Amino acid sequence: MPYGIRPVGIRGTGISLPKRVLTNRDLEKIVDTSDEWITSRTGIKSRRIADDDVTTSMLASEAAERALRDAGIGADKIGLTIVATITPDMMFPATACLVQDRIGAKNSAAYDLEAGCTGFIYALATGAQFVSSGIYDHVLVIGAETVSRIMDWEDRNTCVLFGDAAGAAVLGPVGEDYGVLGIDLGSDGGGGNLLDLPAGGSLHPADEGTVANKMHYLRMQGNEVFKFAVRTMSESPLRALDIAGLDKKDIDYIVPHQANERIIQAALRRLQLSGDKAYINLDRYGNTSAASVPIALHEAKEEGKVKDGDIVVLVAFGAGLTWGSVVLRWGRGET
Ligand code: ACO
Repeated sequence: MPYGIRPVGIRGTGISLPKRVLTNRDLEKIVDTSDEWITSRTGIKSRRIADDDVTTSMLASEAAERALRDAGIGADKIGLTIVATITPDMMFPATACLVQDRIGAKNSAAYDLEAGCTGFIYALATGAQFVSSGIYDHVLVIGAETVSRIMDWEDRNTCVLFGDAAGAAVLGPVGEDYGVLGIDLGSDGGGGNLLDLPAGGSLHPADEGTVANKMHYLRMQGNEVFKFAVRTMSESPLRALDIAGLDKKDIDYIVPHQANERIIQAALRRLQLSGDKAYINLDRYGNTSAASVPIALHEAKEEGKVKDGDIVVLVAFGAGLTWGSVVLRWGRGET
């Protein structure tokens, strides 16, 4: 049924986590920091770091293959692959094309999408349109990062916060009243300087000067990002719920971007949600940028915290600045 409107939801999830664990104690040996500072200011205890020969597309492909298995479909059934990332394998070709080839998704279009840590939410919202319209039956959305590659390992303000990983979801048709019910996406490019990696593009092409000035590393004004994060993480879900004709009281479970436990707790207080309604795994993985929401969603599902029929809110904020929420009724329903 081309160009019709049909319910679309998540039919499978998968994740890929590098084996190497970097603990706060390990970081004490690299920069002037402490386990106590990192734990009390962020909630992070450890993070995963990809080996030197592992790229974003490899993590993305592993997560994608697992999501396809979970969905019970072959890669040839995918019509579109979207990879959300701030750490592509290279400037071009798109990491999504590398994934498409690696997993054998021979019928799939492929492109990357960059919305910082909101990338997976943007990708999910975008991919859902193609299924809803009937253009594709199945879309693969992936959040994948090797943030360790753009870290200044001498900057304690940033290097303690991030980790490498990938998470994927297979979108497909679901039963009436299941799947995506509401979406809120937003941006404020005026705040782009609060969180950026300035060199390597047309503004500052790579040269000796950009390398000497450490312009190929992530830079962040943490305090300003913190305030923006608390505001958007509590306000964006309300707009998405409103579109769905729901209220914050209807939320069964929330899967927030995993940047800082204090941001999550502040957002929960504003949404009047108790802590047991939110999934938190940043203690184990740190901030994995675009990978954080699909990984948390996958683990919440595997642990039975997200159940069939539940109203689930996914919410994130990130570089851009960007933010986004998706409200779903979890499950496949009758198709
Ligand atoms: N170890 C020890 N001390 C540290 C460390 C560290 N790792 N990092 C910073 N400090 C020091 C600072 O130098 C500062 O010292 P000073 O007062 O002598 O100058 C002091 O700790 C306090 O620094 P603040 O920045 O005020 O600390 P804050 O409580 O705000 O926490 C943090 C900093 C964790 C970065 C917080 O602001 C935060 O989480 N912000 C949001 C960041 C975020 O979510 N980023 C992800 C964006 S998503 C994306 O798209 C990539």
